Amino acid sequence: MKSKDISRRKFIKNLGGGVIGAGVVLSHKPLKAEDQPAKDENKQNLARLNLTVNGKKVSLDIEPQTTLAQMLREKLKLTGTKVVCNHGECGACTVLLDGRPVYSCHMLALDAEGKEVITIEGLMEGEKLQPIQEAFVKHDGLQCGFCTPGQIMAAQGILNKNPRPDRLEIMEGMSGNICRCAAYPKILESAIAAAEKAE
Ligand code: FES
Ligand code: FES
Repeated sequence: MKSKDISRRKFIKNLGGGVIGAGVVLSHKPLKAEDQPAKDENKQNLARLNLTVNGKKVSLDIEPQTTLAQMLREKLKLTGTKVVCNHGECGACTVLLDGRPVYSCHMLALDAEGKEVITIEGLMEGEKLQPIQEAFVKHDGLQCGFCTPGQIMAAQGILNKNPRPDRLEIMEGMSGNICRCAAYPKILESAIAAAEKAE
């Protein structure tokens, strides 16, 4: 952000200095390789990532510092995964990695190489909601809904590990998911209802 601001400032300053005329002159002059590094350097710095997302094989080139959340939201447009704190503290960005809940803002996408990621979009089977999703609807497990995808994925992660968790297990498993609306009683009720429904 800082470097963007600096270059924007420089650009505006240069405009003020009458560089429009200079631009005409420069346009006839072939650019040297060292004058045009950014694009090529960026290309060279990309890394290939192969993984499965919501049952589909995905292969894409990303910057190594891209987080899993950024990759899902910005590259794959799976914006159901929310980013709130972006610091591994609130759980809003929870997705399943090989069936286990992880904070997608807090891990590099490249660390998901060869793995299977499920996001909130991938829980549904066609138009059919998973029991955990149905339970959140039925028991009103949300208010503003911003934390909800993360809450649902965390709850699904618990159910993947143990389809009949007790109340304490659910509370412990979901303790890393913060709800600013404090809808906790309904969230817990929803998760318990889904667990009770499990075969
Ligand atoms: S947005 Fe990832 S933990 Fe808060
Ligand atoms: S429902 Fe609003 S943050 Fe949880």
